Amino acid sequence: MLRIEFGDQSLECPLVVGTENEKAIDISQLRSKTGYITLDDSFGNTGSCKSGITYIDGDKGVLRYRGYAIEELAEKSSFIETAYLIIYGNLPNKSEYDLFSDLLTSQEILHEGFRHHFEGFPNNAHPMAMLSAMINAMGCYQSDLYEVEDGVSRFDKSAAQLISQVRTIAAAAYKMSIGQPMVYPYPEKSYAENFLQMMFSLPNKHYEVDPDILHALTMFLILHVDHEQNCSTSTVRVVASSGANLHASCSAGVCALWGRLHGGANQGVVEMFNKIKNSDYTVKEFIEKVKKKEGGAKLMGFGHRVYKNFDPRAQILQKAAHKLLDKAGKQDELLEIAQELAESALHDEYFIERKLYPNVDFYSGIILQAIGIPLNMFTVMFAIGRMPGWIAHWKEINENSKQRIYRPRQIYVGETIRKYIPVDKR
Ligand code: CMC
Repeated sequence: MLRIEFGDQSLECPLVVGTENEKAIDISQLRSKTGYITLDDSFGNTGSCKSGITYIDGDKGVLRYRGYAIEELAEKSSFIETAYLIIYGNLPNKSEYDLFSDLLTSQEILHEGFRHHFEGFPNNAHPMAMLSAMINAMGCYQSDLYEVEDGVSRFDKSAAQLISQVRTIAAAAYKMSIGQPMVYPYPEKSYAENFLQMMFSLPNKHYEVDPDILHALTMFLILHVDHEQNCSTSTVRVVASSGANLHASCSAGVCALWGRLHGGANQGVVEMFNKIKNSDYTVKEFIEKVKKKEGGAKLMGFGHRVYKNFDPRAQILQKAAHKLLDKAGKQDELLEIAQELAESALHDEYFIERKLYPNVDFYSGIILQAIGIPLNMFTVMFAIGRMPGWIAHWKEINENSKQRIYRPRQIYVGETIRKYIPVDKR
């Protein structure tokens, strides 16, 4: 119990301890009992919920999905198995896995009506804009006439449709943007292989998938599945708390992910590497610009609100990037720039003092580039990976019978009451 004293008033706030010994002060009675609210701009100290999905220890660089270490899942699991784990809470047994996999396959083809939606976008539309719009449109093709059909609940079907079709939409958006015909899904292929086929096959040329590329892509997707209350997941939860459907909530998540400080950072990182590669200034000079915050410059792919030591996802991806490029026998100029940047920053007082380390986006772009994914599709790849996480959080909100709508307060600092003086209007 924590006692807060306000002059002659006091409030006893219960302490809350999580299963990993995370501690919080429950201030839910604060405003009704005292009239005060807490002020925590950007929520750096605010726990917005209790959640049983993902655990992060930012000081120790720990990340676990439903109790399983990310390192183990990245090495041994498949994207579908991890998606099932994050949504339903446990690893699937063989028959659960097969059922889930079949459900995904049954949902992978887009309704033909989607062609018209795609045609409505300008050629240079950013694929994240298309993805968000299409996910919302997908919801319009769902029938809500039934709760359970053939033993499959509406939630199971919607979840499978989202995970499966986000990949079909992403590949179709890419094909449309380069003026090539859409490629239909390959039901017999694994999730990641199916995606690569839809991205890179041509009507007269089947794309041969390299097993190392496939492994790297699967690992990339698993590492992005969930990351507790980040900006896009919190957005999904906020939207879901109003009673919005799964598609609308996840569509909002895509928009939140797009920004440069969040999922858009993976595109920003490679643009930064290219800028250094194509400019006259050295890595050291670039670091100096960042430290002086020249024009708001940041070292993209560095820093994190929660990780203050290392981001385990970045470590896994760094090794994977080396493995992929070493095997191809490629001297990758971008990886060299990345290494030089990381080396300089990690020994620089500015970054040490502020506990800024490479985050997941620092190395992921190098892997995506090696796979052949175009730059403007990088954040879409993040969204494909994050979809099961958003779905799990939507489910958690909807399964909480005591869930209230998310509705923060504010401290108003605008004008006080003013008299309305009409102007002469025509
Ligand atoms: N480069 C240079 N300085 C930085 C950076 C950076 N990447 N990140 C933080 N700082 C500085 C910041 O300017 C501030 O300095 P000062 O104390 O002088 O004002 C100090 O470090 C504390 O930073 P902050 O802005 O309070 O940190 P935050 O927790 O609000 O922001 C962040 C976290 C990830 C948005 C930020 O570190 C950042 O903008 N990084 C670059 C973008 C990026 O890589 N984003 C991907 C995040 S991980 C994946 C994901 O979430 O999608």
